[in-house]
Amino acid sequence: MEPITSSLLRAKYLAFFAERGHVEIPAASLVPTHDPSVLFTTAGMHPLVPNLLGEPHPAGRRLANVQKCIRTGDIDEVGDDTHLVSFEMLGNWSLGDYYKDDAIRWSFELLTGDRGLALPLARLGVTCFAGDDHVPIDRESAAIWESLGIATARIQFLGRDGNWWGPAGQTGPCGPDTEIFYWVDPSPPPRQLDVADKRWVEIWNNVFMGYTKAADGEIVALPRVNVDTGMGLERTLVAINGLRSVYDVDTVKPLYDLVRGLASAANEREIRIITDHVRAACFMIADGVAPTGKDRGYVLRRLLRRCIFAAQQLGMAPDWYRRATSCVTAMLGDAYPELRDSDGIAGLIEDEVAKFETTLAHGLRLVAKRPVLDGRTAFDLFQTYGFPFELTRELAERQGKHVDEAEFRAELERHRELSRSAAGGTFASGLADHSAEVVRYHTLTHLLQAALREVLGEHVTQRGSNLTKDRLRFDFSHREKIAREDLARVEGMVNGWLARDLVVERATMREAEARAIGAIGAFGEKYGELVSVYSVVDRGSGEVISREFCGGPHVEALADLRGRLRIVKEEGIAAGIRRIKAVLEQ
Ligand code: ALA
Repeated sequence: MEPITSSLLRAKYLAFFAERGHVEIPAASLVPTHDPSVLFTTAGMHPLVPNLLGEPHPAGRRLANVQKCIRTGDIDEVGDDTHLVSFEMLGNWSLGDYYKDDAIRWSFELLTGDRGLALPLARLGVTCFAGDDHVPIDRESAAIWESLGIATARIQFLGRDGNWWGPAGQTGPCGPDTEIFYWVDPSPPPRQLDVADKRWVEIWNNVFMGYTKAADGEIVALPRVNVDTGMGLERTLVAINGLRSVYDVDTVKPLYDLVRGLASAANEREIRIITDHVRAACFMIADGVAPTGKDRGYVLRRLLRRCIFAAQQLGMAPDWYRRATSCVTAMLGDAYPELRDSDGIAGLIEDEVAKFETTLAHGLRLVAKRPVLDGRTAFDLFQTYGFPFELTRELAERQGKHVDEAEFRAELERHRELSRSAAGGTFASGLADHSAEVVRYHTLTHLLQAALREVLGEHVTQRGSNLTKDRLRFDFSHREKIAREDLARVEGMVNGWLARDLVVERATMREAEARAIGAIGAFGEKYGELVSVYSVVDRGSGEVISREFCGGPHVEALADLRGRLRIVKEEGIAAGIRRIKAVLEQ
C-alpha cells in the first residue's frame, strides 16, 4: 500500500471534520500572544482557552486545525522513537456543542473507517478516567468504546496521572480524557492494553473539558462542556505507515538523512538529537524567537548549543546548519510558509554559533582551572553559558577530570522546582484568569499599544504580554531606548483617553474587512476568515482610538478601568524588542 504522506493526513483529517460541520481555523504562532501561562504553544487548545471558558469563537462551535507545537517537558526522551520537541497536532473542538458520544465515534470512524485511515481495530486500545474524589469514573466513554467494538481488555482505566488533561500551567480548562493507543510493534498485539509497554503508543487524545482549575487548585465544573482533541501527526504517520520511528516520517526524514550524511561518526542518538533540535529551532526562529539567556530565548539557545556541539563532535562541515535550514524549508515550507526564509533562519543560527565559540573558550578555561568539577560548577556552566551537561563532562574528561553528575542533577532539579513555581505564579494571573483586575490590564494594554504607535510609529507591534492583577508587561518591536519625553507623551495620551467617555466594542467580521478598517493583529498570528475585533471608540464622534484582533475579554467602558496609567519601567529585552511595565494608579 502507498504510504500516507503528511500532507494527505492533514487534508484527510480536516476534510473528515469539515464534513461534520467543523470550520478550519488557522494555526496560531508558537509564541502565545496573550497567554503567559506557557513559553510556547504546546497544544491546539492554547489559543482557544478563552473560548473553552465561554467566550464565543467567531468561527462557531465546531472547529478543527493543524497546530505546530513545541514541548520540552520530555526533552530527555528525545532520541527515542516517539518524542520530538516540535510536532504537529491535528485537533477538533466542540465549544459547548457535541460531547463524548460524537467525539469518540468520530475518532473511531476516522481511525478505522475505510474512508478514513483504515487502521486495524486489532491494534487499538484506549484508556479512560478512573475517577477520584472530585470527578467520577468515566464509564460512559468506556461504554461508547465497547459499543464500537473495542474489547473490554483493551480499555484501561487510569487516574489523574494518566487520564486527566489541562494546559501546562496550573489553572485553566481541564477534564478527564480518553486516549487512543496503537500497537506499533510488528509482533501480534497482546490481548490486553498495558500503557507501560512502550510498544503501545498514544496517538490521539480526546479531552472532555467540563472543568476549570481555579488558582486555589479547586476543580470547578464549567457551565458548558467542551471537547478538545489532539492527534500527533508524526506518531500517527508512524502507525499508519508501519514506520520504525518518527525520524522516518516525511516531515523529519529528509533532515535526518542530511544530518546522517554530514556526520562522519555514526552516533544514532546524536544524529537524532541534532535533527530534532534544529528542526524545532527553525520553527521557533520563524515565529520570531531569538536565542537569549531567558525564557523562550533560553530554550532556543539550549537547543541550538546542544546541536552545535553535537555537530562538532560528529565532525559535521561548519556550514551544516545552512544545509539543514534549506532542508527544513524544502520539507515544510509548503505547509508552513514562515519557514521559507531559510537564509534568515540560518543567519540567526550563525550568530549563535559565533557566540558559542566564545562561550566554549570561557568554559574550557574554567574547566582547566579547577582540579575537580563539582556539580554546582557544571550547573553554572549550564546556566550561565548554556553548556549542556554532556558538554561539560566531555570537556572535563578530556582533561582527565571527573564531574559530579548527581550533584549537577540535584542543582538542576532545585532550579526546575523554582521555575515551575514561577511559571505557576504567572499562569495564575494569565489569560485563564478572567478576574476584573486582569481584564482591566488587558484593555489597558490595547491603549498602551495604540499610544506607542502614535508616539513612536506604526512599526510598533506586540511581541508578548504578561498580565497580573497588579501590573501589565508589554513587549513590542522598537529598536532604540525610548526617550523620557516620549514615555511621558505615551502616558499622557493614554490618560487623556481614560478621562474621556470611551467604550469598548466587540465585533465579528471577515478578516479582510477588519484589515480594511485598520484592525491590527498581534505579532506572528494568522487569522481565519472570521475574526473577533475589539475597538475602543468615542460613540459621540465616531473616533476610533484602538482596534485590534483579539480573543478578549475586555471591559465595556474605559470608566471601568478606574485609574491612570503609570509606566514604571522601560527596557530592552532582545535585539529590536523593548519591554514596558506599567500599573494602573487610582
Ligand atoms: N489538548 C490535548 C492534548 O494535548 C488534546 O493532549
